[in-house]
Amino acid sequence: MLIDGHGRTVNYLRVSVTERCNFRCQYCMPEKPFSWVPKENLLSFEELFLFMKVAMDEGVNKIRITGGEPLLREDLDTFIKMIHDYKPDIDLALTTNAYLLPQTAQRLKDAGLKRLNISLDSLKADVAHKIAQKDVLKQVLKGIDKALEVGLGVKINMVPLKGINDDEILAVMDYCKARKIKIRFIEYMENRHATEALKGMHGREILDKVKERHTIRALGREGASPSFNYELDDGYQFGLIDPHKHDFCENCNRIRLTAEGNLIPCLYFDEAMSIAESVKKGDIQGAADVLAQVLKDKPKENRWIEGELEEGQEVSSRAFYETGG
Ligand code: GTP
Ligand code: 5AD
Ligand code: SF4
Repeated sequence: MLIDGHGRTVNYLRVSVTERCNFRCQYCMPEKPFSWVPKENLLSFEELFLFMKVAMDEGVNKIRITGGEPLLREDLDTFIKMIHDYKPDIDLALTTNAYLLPQTAQRLKDAGLKRLNISLDSLKADVAHKIAQKDVLKQVLKGIDKALEVGLGVKINMVPLKGINDDEILAVMDYCKARKIKIRFIEYMENRHATEALKGMHGREILDKVKERHTIRALGREGASPSFNYELDDGYQFGLIDPHKHDFCENCNRIRLTAEGNLIPCLYFDEAMSIAESVKKGDIQGAADVLAQVLKDKPKENRWIEGELEEGQEVSSRAFYETGG
């Protein structure tokens, strides 16, 4: 079992297979063009897998593949299959913007993938275009349909932003309800890479919008998930991810691995240790030692704070396109 320095059991590994993305979501990517990490710095699937086996052998039973946009990584289905074949019972999921799903969903399912979490911030083509800085909606909706058609589990993530998509909270929820899929609203997490003018909605404000039309009942957190669940009168359940409250940190069960091999103990902080050297040498003990050190140093909680920043306080410098959120 993997236990961190605060006594929390870590059983969830998020693996980013690329920081590249075919979208430029305003809450995630810089406005100005920037250079990607060169492809030769990426770990191969075999190298990533060597570390993942160490983690799975020590008790990780939930793996999520993320990006950037993970479906940009060539032959991702072979990587999914490697993981599935090693531990068929593992909770194996992927987070995606859905753009490439129409042509990949079936292969992912066949390789052993169980679930997808998909970002859907708007049902209006112009608003989706504005957020992703690309005309994406039609293809995204097609991708969601395809995922459902092939039998993958689907959840939707929406980041409500003031003056941009805050009027669509109920519409996107209705879309999900009609398809019997869960929506999680995520509070915008301020970070140095996002468009500066963005204003997120507080969890309370998001719930107020839902309450304009529904009576809601708080259900609580699902295990160590950052999502707090609610139920509507008709039994439909949705979630709210509210990192500014960060009470979920006390049960945090996750670590993140980037495509370059940095092992990140918390989404908020810059701290990371590399497993690249160890896995390139096939040094299993070296990788296990880095894992042990990262667990020991895992911070107690993130530092997203409610309201205006006070002097001396900084927003996170961590890039979501590198860690996969
Ligand atoms: P499930 O397995 O379906 O519960 O997935 P998940 O919620 O772990 O995965 P997903 O990639 O959909 O994550 C949703 C979002 O929740 C992330 O992109 C982050 O924005 C946020 N989130 C997840 N984990 C953490 C965390 O440890 N800290 C903070 N602050 N936010 C997190
Ligand atoms: N704040 C909140 N959520 C974010 N995501 C990406 N950047 C941010 C941010 N700054 C979400 C995406 C996606 C998930 C992986 O992370 O919407 O659903
Ligand atoms: Fe790409 Fe996801 Fe970032 Fe949007 S949030 S730019 S889809 S990595």
